[in-house]
Amino acid sequence: MTELGFEPIRPPYVVLNDAPVGEGGTEDLLGTAETARNLAELILASRAAAPFTLAVDARWGMGKSSLMRTLSSTLENNEPDAVSTVWFNAWTSARADAVEGLIKSVLFSFDRNVVRRTVRGLLRRTQVVGALRAATLVASSFFGFAHAVDEIWRALALDAKSRNEIKAVVRDMAQDWLARGGKGTNRRLLVVFIDDLDRCADDRVFAVCEAIKLYLDVPGIVFVLGCDQVVLGQAVGGTAGAQYLEKIIQVNYPIPAPGEEEAQRLVNGYVEHSGTAHLFDDSMKRLLVERTGRNPRRIKRLINSFVLEHRLNRSWDDLGAKNLVKVVLLQHFYPTFYRNMLSGTDRDPVREFVDYLVFRGFVRQHSEGDPLRWRRLFDAVKLAPPSEDADGAELEASLAELEKQLPVEFPELAGDREFVSLVESLFVDSVEWQRLIQQPLVSQASSFAGPRDLRRLRVLWIDDYPDGNRWPIDQLEAGGAKVESVTDRAGALAALSRLRPNVLISDVRRGDDDKAGFTDLAYLRDNGLYGGPAFFYCGQVTPARVRAAKQLDAEITNDPGELLSLIDESA
Ligand SMILES: Nc1ncnc2c1ncn2[C@@H]1O[C@H](COP(=O)(O)OP(=O)(O)OP(=O)(O)O)[C@@H](O)[C@H]1O
Ligand SMILES: [Mg+2]
Repeated sequence: MTELGFEPIRPPYVVLNDAPVGEGGTEDLLGTAETARNLAELILASRAAAPFTLAVDARWGMGKSSLMRTLSSTLENNEPDAVSTVWFNAWTSARADAVEGLIKSVLFSFDRNVVRRTVRGLLRRTQVVGALRAATLVASSFFGFAHAVDEIWRALALDAKSRNEIKAVVRDMAQDWLARGGKGTNRRLLVVFIDDLDRCADDRVFAVCEAIKLYLDVPGIVFVLGCDQVVLGQAVGGTAGAQYLEKIIQVNYPIPAPGEEEAQRLVNGYVEHSGTAHLFDDSMKRLLVERTGRNPRRIKRLINSFVLEHRLNRSWDDLGAKNLVKVVLLQHFYPTFYRNMLSGTDRDPVREFVDYLVFRGFVRQHSEGDPLRWRRLFDAVKLAPPSEDADGAELEASLAELEKQLPVEFPELAGDREFVSLVESLFVDSVEWQRLIQQPLVSQASSFAGPRDLRRLRVLWIDDYPDGNRWPIDQLEAGGAKVESVTDRAGALAALSRLRPNVLISDVRRGDDDKAGFTDLAYLRDNGLYGGPAFFYCGQVTPARVRAAKQLDAEITNDPGELLSLIDESA
């Protein structure tokens, strides 16, 4: 409630759907229409050369289906009488047999009379059909188109020998269909769009390619394949696969990543549609573009994470959507830094980073200093600050000492313009902020793909705040590992003989002791109590901590996904 007693109006941020351009209200923001026009002209001008296959090649979510949909409607609008298009979704097509599904889709595209004449032709070739099938063929040609196509297929697919007839029959049908249309530049053309081939299992990919090559390689048909060729090449088998694909695909159109201007237009369009335009400044938009590899789907997903978070996480209301959107950007693009923010200590990495920047700028660029802020930072890491009249060499030495105690990623982040601008603009001076940044966002992002069989593992986990370890513990247990949590050295000693752990995970700081984890593992190692693999899982990874862990023959991370992968590798 505001002072006036009104509930503040919640801006109507909306989720962006993932429909390809032209569907679900998705508007073309990348000049896909123009590319489609050019490709349509190419196809139409080359129609006498059909059959051929054009591949629309791009990585996941870069706009293959969008371009294919637009190309399909451009072709049909250009020449509604001559051009027919048909879609075959290799992935979602329900038929178990992809070859059958694809060939039938093509047969369905020819008109009734062509199909009827084919039935008659087949009837004459009784060696193909057999007397019994002949009767059903006659019946089905009266009972409807779909039935007739089904019967043609069944007649042909009856035995392996007659399968050889398929191409001949399809060729006859295509020729018949072509002859019924215009000539020369008005010649008929059937464009078959096959989307999502790269999502299919290897044998299905192979079957579809074989269908194109063996059965459907007939005049008048052009195939447009939507796929990531890297994935497709792997599906049909390494280098040999690439050569095989060259036989199937004659023209390859790789969709380029959007250029600078296009990418800007895309992001502007998306934030506009989702109602979030006022929350993103130019630098944040640049982050969205560059950190997603200019991938439209990734950009949408990121904006959607914010919209979801804003709906579900009401505690952000007071600090505002502007800060929340920045935290979401940090979570996705700077996960290590974001995890530092959640580390649950009384230190605030955002403020520490900004203080560090000021000191670094003073040492390196002789920018204005602020001794008060350095003192705060040096105090936090328990180092003596440089004296007020320190010379250049002393300041450099202080900076080097400081960096050993700060998170490993700080020096690199200091050179990242977008990151600096994001962090400098965060609202940090409030208790509310301190409380909020320590709560994880609703939508957690993790890269861990799931453990292998971990039943061999007996994990001892030492941490005075075990609550933060719920997710990795669940994952370990899901893999079959036995996990026991204790909060201190005494607990660990008691658990050792009972559990006989073969993996040890520990925090670093416990209570006021900044090095408790290191001292305890050293104790266990020195007394021959535990010699197995050990991992430190903590909020901040600093160069000093990395060195200390290495001395104990242990790994250190603040990424739960990485922790699990490390354990998985050692298992
Ligand atoms: N020209 C465009 N303008 C605006 N948004 C676009 C454009 N092209 C693609 N997109 C958006 O990008 C996302 C991915 O597009 P699309 O589904 O066409 O990609 P794809 O390469 O087919 O993906 P997949 O690899 O999953 O098959 C969709 O949300 C779509 O709306
Ligand atoms: Mg697609």
